[in-house]
Amino acid sequence: MTILVTGGAGFIGSNFVLDWLARSDEPVIDLDRLTYAGNLENLRSLAGDPRHIFVRGDIGDFDLVATLLAEHRPRAIINFAAESHVDRSIHGPEDFIQTNIVGTYRLLEAARGYWNALPEADKAAFRFLHVSTDEVYGSLGPDDPPFSENNRYEPNSPYSASKAASDHLVRAWHHTYGLPVLTTNCSNNYGPYQFPEKLIPLMIVNALAGKPLPVYGDGLNVRDWLYVKDHCAAIRVVLARGRVGETYNIGGWNEKTNLEIVRIVCRLLDERRPRPDGASHASLITFVKDRPGHDRRYAIDATKIARELGWRPAETFETGIEKTVAWYLDHPDWVAHVQSGAYREWIGRHYGE
Ligand code: NAD
Ligand code: TYD
Repeated sequence: MTILVTGGAGFIGSNFVLDWLARSDEPVIDLDRLTYAGNLENLRSLAGDPRHIFVRGDIGDFDLVATLLAEHRPRAIINFAAESHVDRSIHGPEDFIQTNIVGTYRLLEAARGYWNALPEADKAAFRFLHVSTDEVYGSLGPDDPPFSENNRYEPNSPYSASKAASDHLVRAWHHTYGLPVLTTNCSNNYGPYQFPEKLIPLMIVNALAGKPLPVYGDGLNVRDWLYVKDHCAAIRVVLARGRVGETYNIGGWNEKTNLEIVRIVCRLLDERRPRPDGASHASLITFVKDRPGHDRRYAIDATKIARELGWRPAETFETGIEKTVAWYLDHPDWVAHVQSGAYREWIGRHYGE
């Protein structure tokens, strides 16, 4: 048996592939276009491992995907591939429309053609698992209950709108064509291999470089943070036991303001890598112009996946963030390599350096 993973060189996808192959010998076909966010260094420990078959390509390339499916005959597709950064979606939505909407559509079509031709038993066992986000539900008020699977879709950014569109396509391919799909909507992830354009790794790498820590607006926007390996575990249980056609919200029961997050990161860095002048890294916190349309609060009610599938996060925020900070401190080469020309150009454009 084999699975096809898309976006397996990105942050969550590479953690998923590494964890999968640490637990099982079932091979992974890893289809990734290697955009700025895809990084084969994340998968370096798998070099020469015949269980990991990496293919550089686009989920929107129907012929390539159809050929891969015919050749490797996977029992499941797990779709991580996406443009994933809200700020980039504000500067340039086109790539988000192409990959997240058109790409998912073409992937679904290739999957449908392959699945239709499978023998009955394989057809019944096949799964298309679509990895999505809590951002499709929009923004919560301070006293609103967390998002459940029944919340209305109210996406506010080009990123979340494109993910919402992809979720609807996945749903429609199930209801109309019977494709056995599963959708997961997860809260903000953090952990090893996250590209330092997202809040937590950006704060770590800037703090270590003595650069300003840019906090948008008043810093009181709330996110529900989940350690990436807990997300990967949730995807594995949904794949194994999730009910076809259902969606599962995944979250850490861990709401924090951005300012709380940045201060925790600074405290850990103060302990592990004190600044030569003795000042706290928190002295680098700089309030900057808010993100347009900035969602105020996200929070996930993960009761359904806990009740139906028995999933709970293994990490608390305290243990997860310690591991994350330690990982970045232990991997200066990885950080240096991702801070390529394209990365510097983005930072310059977005933060006006
Ligand atoms: P990421 O940006 O780190 O990685 C995305 C990967 O997809 C990269 O390796 C990139 O090269 C690849 N890719 C992009 N366009 C492609 C295309 N057209 N064809 C093939 N590959 C392509 O993203 P991530 O943070 O790992 O997120 C993975 C998935 O999880 C996304 O679908 C995202 O919406 C979802 N998600 C992310 C979070 C989070 O906090 N990061 C939370 C919930 C859900
Ligand atoms: P981010 O990691 O981009 O994830 P998302 O927007 O998908 O939730 O941002 C997390 C929060 O941190 C969000 O409220 C925006 C805020 N943020 C900053 O305050 N400063 C920054 O430099 C970045 C990248 C994000």
